[in-house]
Amino acid sequence: MNTRSSLTIVLAAGEGTRMRTSLPKVLHPIAGESLLAHVLSATPHDANARLAVVIGPAHDAVAHEVKRLRPDADIFVQRERLGTAHAVLAAREAIARGADDLLVAFGDTPLISAETFARLRAPLAQGATLAVLGFRAADPTGYGRLLLEGDRLVAIREHADASEDERRITLCNAGVMAFGGARALAILGRIGNANKKSEYYLVDAVAIAHEMGLEAVVIETSEDEVRGVNTKAQLAEAEGVMQTRLRRAAMDAGVTLIAPETVYLAADTRFGTDVTIEPFVVVGPGVSIGDGAVIHSFSHIVQSTIGRNTSVGPYARMRPGTSLGDGAKIGNFVETKAAILEEGVKINHLSYIGDAQVGAKANIGAGTITCNYDGFGKHKTTIGQGAFIGTNSSLVAPIKIGAGAYIGSGSVITRDVPDDAMALERTQQTIREGGAARYREIKTRNKKPKS
Ligand code: UD1
Ligand code: MG
Repeated sequence: MNTRSSLTIVLAAGEGTRMRTSLPKVLHPIAGESLLAHVLSATPHDANARLAVVIGPAHDAVAHEVKRLRPDADIFVQRERLGTAHAVLAAREAIARGADDLLVAFGDTPLISAETFARLRAPLAQGATLAVLGFRAADPTGYGRLLLEGDRLVAIREHADASEDERRITLCNAGVMAFGGARALAILGRIGNANKKSEYYLVDAVAIAHEMGLEAVVIETSEDEVRGVNTKAQLAEAEGVMQTRLRRAAMDAGVTLIAPETVYLAADTRFGTDVTIEPFVVVGPGVSIGDGAVIHSFSHIVQSTIGRNTSVGPYARMRPGTSLGDGAKIGNFVETKAAILEEGVKINHLSYIGDAQVGAKANIGAGTITCNYDGFGKHKTTIGQGAFIGTNSSLVAPIKIGAGAYIGSGSVITRDVPDDAMALERTQQTIREGGAARYREIKTRNKKPKS
């Protein structure tokens, strides 16, 4: 653990107009969590760490997300968008409280890791005043270029202000910086806005530190870690990088992914041992998959708990609040929602089970529907242990089916069924001997030849 105290300021005041949606940019999700959530989870979390987030005006939703994730964070509003240094100084009050290390990160750079923050802080403990995260850009257009003299960082030049020679530099500014806390305000206070965009550029901190005779260094990382998201296409690229990482981590933990590139995971997906996931499965947020579970192709699972030695799908849809007990099975075209399915339950085909509790080893026949909604409210279905629900039954909730009860196929059940009772609800079947033959004969006789 780092014994130095830290303040991390995350800049999240971007409007995200290039995303062309009403949602603030940093609230867009990748792998089931907002861009901001990914950044915040990488920032220092130890007992000596404080966090401040700078948001734009009228961005209550962003403030809400910050509070949800880190209730202890301070939130500052940057009223006018005058540049990254101006945004950092919106949190002046937090900086003035003092910390050994001041870290600045961007809310739209979600792939950054906790290790990188730690690497960036290391030189400060060795006496450097400023550490800048750099990367080699495949295409440096638009990024700030890192200007070195020997291995000393002397300035960062924004693309718009760079000369032809400087534009050929591929070592770029990732945007994440660490300042020695004692000097931070003195440096930030000297940043002006004499540049092409008349913005207060945080990157000017480097030249100022250099003038003051203070040491600034570069810590390099991969381009994948510092991809910024400004457009929907970049959002998809970041998702791609994140998915590759998550699949890799799952396989490293022993999960069998037959075609990893077709499986989508969430950042918080939890796996037991000996889990197999077949091709084309989508796992949303809040899912845990128990030991020995097999998730068959084309299943879609969100906020659900899957027990040990279970089988899901192919083509299963598990909606929020599903809990599948050990040894249970849900098969093709089964949809579940807010359903507690106890040990050994079988729902093999074509059913909707919602707002329900199903006792151990109950067997739910094909086409069973819990009619949980009456157009006004949702109602609960309770099915006892070992009950057998015949195919194509409609269970009109609120309803209780007793343990060991039997429901005849095709029944519409509207009254509670006691334990071990049999319930049938259908009209008497009629048989007309020879009826089919007579029917065919009449039809054949009356059939007009085709003209
Ligand atoms: C910035 C860096 C550039 C770097 C690049 C990496 C500066 C001046 N430039 O450029 O060197 O290569 O990131 O992606 O720092 N923000 C505010 N308030 C403002 C302005 C920006 O909160 O007034 C936030 C934005 O929401 C964003 C971040 O700061 O999260 C960076 O701003 P952006 O405009 O994206 O800077 P770039 O031009 O990408
Ligand atoms: Mg940017």
